[in-house]
Amino acid sequence: MRMKKILISGVKPTGRPHIGNYFGAMKQFVDMQDDYESSIFVADLHALTGIDSAQELKSNILEEAIDYLAIGLDPKKVTLFKQSDVPQVAELAWIFDCMTTMPYLMRAHAFKDAEAKNKDINVGVFNYPILMAADILLSDADVVPVGSDQKQHIEITRDIAEKFNRLFGKTFKLPKEIILEEFATVIGTDGQKMSKSYGNTIPLFATTEEIQKAVMKIPTDSKGASDPKDTDSILFKIHKLFLDQKEQVELKKEYERGISYKEAKEKLIESAEKFIAPLRERRAYWANKKEEVLKILKDGGEKANERAEKIMTMVRKNVGLTL
Ligand code: TYM
Repeated sequence: MRMKKILISGVKPTGRPHIGNYFGAMKQFVDMQDDYESSIFVADLHALTGIDSAQELKSNILEEAIDYLAIGLDPKKVTLFKQSDVPQVAELAWIFDCMTTMPYLMRAHAFKDAEAKNKDINVGVFNYPILMAADILLSDADVVPVGSDQKQHIEITRDIAEKFNRLFGKTFKLPKEIILEEFATVIGTDGQKMSKSYGNTIPLFATTEEIQKAVMKIPTDSKGASDPKDTDSILFKIHKLFLDQKEQVELKKEYERGISYKEAKEKLIESAEKFIAPLRERRAYWANKKEEVLKILKDGGEKANERAEKIMTMVRKNVGLTL
């Protein structure tokens, strides 16, 4: 029997996920769960870089576990866990800290962005890619499905793994990112990358009213009702996400024939609603089963911890911490 390749990925529990998270990453987790030995986690330690309310963090962690189940991750196939149940990642991150230079990490996009915005940057934000490398390398992953904004983090992970292997002997595999070209960067209602911090999202489990409100915000130009419309527009690009190939071709034709923006927006609301409603229902189902969700997280945590401990034992030995 051929062994399945190992997959790992995570999402930060910083509030409700949006369709950018879904199409860029979370949908891949579901689509790949049969073919890979998958572990998907709630990146609670990473969320600590921006959350200082215990109440908020606790609630976000549970809500995200519910989200994972609602999108169709099957706990029988996937190890679902919360990152902090594998505290070895913090231990490994420290070891990586000691072999990574500041100038190297200063080249990370996320850090440079925060610096450019004059944000009060904590050390956690600076070290973020190191903790991520620890997540990935402690899982022995072959592949990491993510959106394009995480590409550099996986490159940093490979650099760190290579450096460690060079200094201390072959210990880690070099993981690869999996980024779907079509969904590498899902745009938001303002045309920028969809992001919670830009206020341009369509929440993955949006209510009908939230869908309507988000769609109404999408800017359009002053073309007349029956003029042909641009299929390179924000409206079309967002609508496309919810359609299969055939439906996309149909919609393109309608745009080119000349559909009014009013009708185009109504159609988008309809498509989004059709797509989101079943997800919302599944979420309501899991939201009612909190005890079960907690048990799934706990079992997954134990499994992930066991696997991480095996690798960590080797790391401690290889760096000289074990006598
Ligand atoms: P996070 O929580 O910011 O985002 C979760 C996933 O969603 C993707 N994503 C997008 N994809 C396409 N278009 C968008 N507009 C968009 N916005 C977000 C992200 O690329 C990501 O895949 N650092 C990670 C969490 C993490 C992690 C890891 C991931 C921690 N450790 C180890 C993989 C492996 C993050 O902040 O994701």
